[in-house]
Amino acid sequence: MAAKLSHQLFGAILVLFVLNPFVTKSRPLKFESFEDLENVRINKVKQFLRAYGYYPGEADTSDDRFEFDDALESALKAYQEFYSLDVTGEIDSNTIKAMSTPRCGVPDINLQQTSNYVLNPGRRKWDKFDLTYNYLSNSSQVADLDQLKQAIAGAFATWRNYSKFRFSEETTQGAAADIGIGFFRRDHGDGSPFDGPADPSRLRNVLAHAAYPGFPYMFLHFDADENWSVYPTSRSDTDTETVALHEIGHNLGLAHSREKTAVMFPDYNGTRRTLDPDDIAGLTELYK
Ligand SMILES: *[C@@H]1O[C@H](CO)[C@@H](O)[C@H](O)[C@H]1NC(C)=O
Ligand SMILES: *[C@@H]1O[C@H](CO)[C@@H](O)[C@H](O)[C@H]1NC(C)=O
Ligand SMILES: *[C@@H]1O[C@H](CO)[C@@H](O)[C@H](O)[C@H]1NC(C)=O
Ligand SMILES: *[C@@H]1O[C@H](CO)[C@@H](O)[C@H](O)[C@H]1NC(C)=O
Ligand SMILES: [Zn+2]
Ligand SMILES: [Zn+2]
Repeated sequence: MAAKLSHQLFGAILVLFVLNPFVTKSRPLKFESFEDLENVRINKVKQFLRAYGYYPGEADTSDDRFEFDDALESALKAYQEFYSLDVTGEIDSNTIKAMSTPRCGVPDINLQQTSNYVLNPGRRKWDKFDLTYNYLSNSSQVADLDQLKQAIAGAFATWRNYSKFRFSEETTQGAAADIGIGFFRRDHGDGSPFDGPADPSRLRNVLAHAAYPGFPYMFLHFDADENWSVYPTSRSDTDTETVALHEIGHNLGLAHSREKTAVMFPDYNGTRRTLDPDDIAGLTELYK
């Protein structure tokens, strides 16, 4: 109930904010009730920036004070720079819009480097090129899993085309595989619960997440609450192959790129089933 109420509140804030995009930290707030909404908004933004690696501290801690502090301003600037937005250091409407776009749950890493692509923090990589994957048992909770599997196989084939990697599905029950793929709802035991169906009036909308090489448990998880499609016909469908292509990039060792046309850009913006030169350059650099 409390969570539902806060979502509704946040919807109200968003409407207010879109109508009046120039309310910033420096403006005096007129109404006590509006100030409360403003405070909730600041904390939602803080939580977003913390979850994606821009604001210091652990993700999803509850000790947020209602404060627009210097760390929040720097975090906003780093986020705006990564997303090629105007670097205002303020919670403006373009920033809110970018934050509510459905995206990958893996944090962005802003290393101030000259390339757009970014390699994973320890530059960890596979020491073999023949990889196997399997489907975890809970995957059966999505409809048409066999079709979705074909879309995911298509994504593996695309990476195969531009690398030394070869991928095959391990279908033997109980046999180990290098990468475990699954469709899960909400809390699924890895400390990063999914957030239910994407909702554009909400700041964070996670579609999927995946592990970098060397992680003790190599996973590629899809949020089962999205409308996974092999041929999207509307904005409420999410193209499975597009998201798989992105997440497999993490499994191979790539982090998020700030190049908007790259598969490794964190946001989902419709079907994009081919790699960008930036993605290929990143993988080539890691495995050279
Ligand atoms: C692989 O590359 C060839 C040549 O560049 C291209 O024609 C083909 O469509 C690619 N296949 C995939 C699955 O990306
Ligand atoms: C796995 O599926 C079962 C039955 O559909 C469900 O009760 C359970 O919550 C699921 N577990 C996860 C981690 O999604
Ligand atoms: C899934 O599709 C249904 C029917 O088109 C729609 O009502 C719902 O909002 C969609 N879910 C998401 C997460 O987009
Ligand atoms: C999303 O895709 C559309 C065209 O399909 C493009 O015009 C727009 O710039 C893209 N947005 C981002 C943030 O890349
Ligand atoms: Zn990602
Ligand atoms: Zn997960």
